Amino acid sequence: MTEEVRKEIRENLDRRVAVRVYNDREISREDMEIILDSAWLSPSSVGLEAWRFLVLDRKAISKVREDLKSIAWGAAPQLDTASHFVILLAERNARYDGQSIRESLVRRGFLGEEIEKRLELYKSFQENDMQIADSKRGLLDWTAKQTYIALANMMTSAIRLGIDSCPIEGFDYSKVNEKLAELKLIDIEKESITTMLSLGYRLKDPKHQRTRKDRDKVINWLD
Ligand SMILES: Cc1cc2nc3c(=O)[nH]c(=O)nc-3n(C[C@H](O)[C@H](O)[C@H](O)COP(=O)(O)O)c2cc1C
Repeated sequence: MTEEVRKEIRENLDRRVAVRVYNDREISREDMEIILDSAWLSPSSVGLEAWRFLVLDRKAISKVREDLKSIAWGAAPQLDTASHFVILLAERNARYDGQSIRESLVRRGFLGEEIEKRLELYKSFQENDMQIADSKRGLLDWTAKQTYIALANMMTSAIRLGIDSCPIEGFDYSKVNEKLAELKLIDIEKESITTMLSLGYRLKDPKHQRTRKDRDKVINWLD
């Protein structure tokens, strides 16, 4: 059993490559929902879940295609053929004294004094450990990093279903944020795009063998 699972994991890892051109096949709603569960149920630092995921099917992609193509060079081929896109958003100001951290503690079942104690801990975490409390950029980087966990989980679930994908960060962040705000899809004061994910079924296998650094150069066991 375990050996079979290992084999299956390895096959999925081998099959997953960045796919930029998809065929016409539509991903089913059921498959999309389980892929999205992988984002929703991903772990986040201090359980904050400072993220949101915008999901576009082919019809929705067609409405933003031309607008996005000119400002998202890394997404251009995918915008033409992908079955679905997910736009990953992160909260901008998840500071220890803000509303969303407090709300996350309530959601996680903390009460009264416990909440205040936790907030003290998060204050020190943000001020001293991560040194981001007074940096807008630092706070956004912190929540943005976490959306990449959701991104990876979606890709892993997708390939298990035989669905291909490509992560995308080749775009002008300010312009894409402005466009999403103009389309009333985001509140630009409160959130920012971090990355996109295209999904679909590959038109053909990649031409080139996938390359990686030597395994022992990047994986170092300690004695
Ligand atoms: C964070 C991130 C951003 C990426 N952005 C783009 C992108 O904008 N456009 C694109 O075509 N590929 C993008 N890629 C795909 C990478 O080029 C690809 O994953 C890498 O070359 C390794 O190839 P593989 O995924 O086929 O193993 C991105 C990958 C990651 C992880």
